[in-house]
Amino acid sequence: MEQISEQLCRYKGYTFATGWATPEYLDSLHSFQIRDSDIFLVTYPKSGTIWTQQILISICELAGGLNEYPNNLEQMPWLEYTEGRPDYALRPSPRLFATHLPPALMPAGLKDKRAKIVYVMRNPKDNIVSYYHFSKVITFLEKPNSFEDFLENYLSGNVGGSSWFDHIRAWHSVCDQYNILYLTYEDMILDLRGAVVKICGFLGKNLSDADIDKVVEKSTFGTMKKDSKANYKFLPEEKLIGDFMRKGRIGDWKKTFTVAQSERVDQILEEKLGDMNLQFIWE
Ligand code: A3P
Repeated sequence: MEQISEQLCRYKGYTFATGWATPEYLDSLHSFQIRDSDIFLVTYPKSGTIWTQQILISICELAGGLNEYPNNLEQMPWLEYTEGRPDYALRPSPRLFATHLPPALMPAGLKDKRAKIVYVMRNPKDNIVSYYHFSKVITFLEKPNSFEDFLENYLSGNVGGSSWFDHIRAWHSVCDQYNILYLTYEDMILDLRGAVVKICGFLGKNLSDADIDKVVEKSTFGTMKKDSKANYKFLPEEKLIGDFMRKGRIGDWKKTFTVAQSERVDQILEEKLGDMNLQFIWE
């Protein structure tokens, strides 16, 4: 691991928060034994991970056969973090995992396309603002001096999770190598029920209309904010001194970005991902 600042280190070109993953463990993930029933949620940080986590857990709970855990983090742990890592080999199926890893660091066994991956992308401007606020309340990340400073670090990939642009390109370039469903945060905001139905179809879970309604109700911003298993208030104060559940909106970036900053992101987006024809909803 190359230390790049007090809070960040880099391994195989990918940036991690210091102390959360070891090279040995990351290397071991290559041969991590995948089960057909495994479900992976992949996101760049602050793209709606804990939201989609709640949706996936609620669907699997209602479909039956899911073991109970005290909270969503233990029910769907981050694959790459070693802290408090249970022995995944002993976990009953179906196993659920969240991760921010790029494809290159994922278990090779996923390429047999039997286990399922859900990938969620969020528009980069809302992603940046969400990440900026999160950096102020999560204690293991560097506190940004200003939004401008944070934006610079984000645009150059000097944040946990590396470059948003690289993450999006890498994961969209492997669509034919994995069994993967692509979703966007914005589509989920605009039609949560539609997203739940799509995810159920992808996972092969036949829920009744009433159960789909239950998943939707459990996954609204208002319900999740009060749900002690889902809102991450269970994290100790030495880790989190604010809220994961901040605003949950599209277009909040407009209150923070200057016109020049917004145009800069537009320009870099065009340079880095323009050839991919991705569609973004900005407000
Ligand atoms: P904001 O900071 O813009 O409010 P992650 O889980 O990847 O860290 O992403 C966190 C972002 O998802 C936060 O965005 C948070 O408010 C938002 N979020 C979490 N649950 C949500 C929900 N049920 N509906 C909409 N947004 C949600």
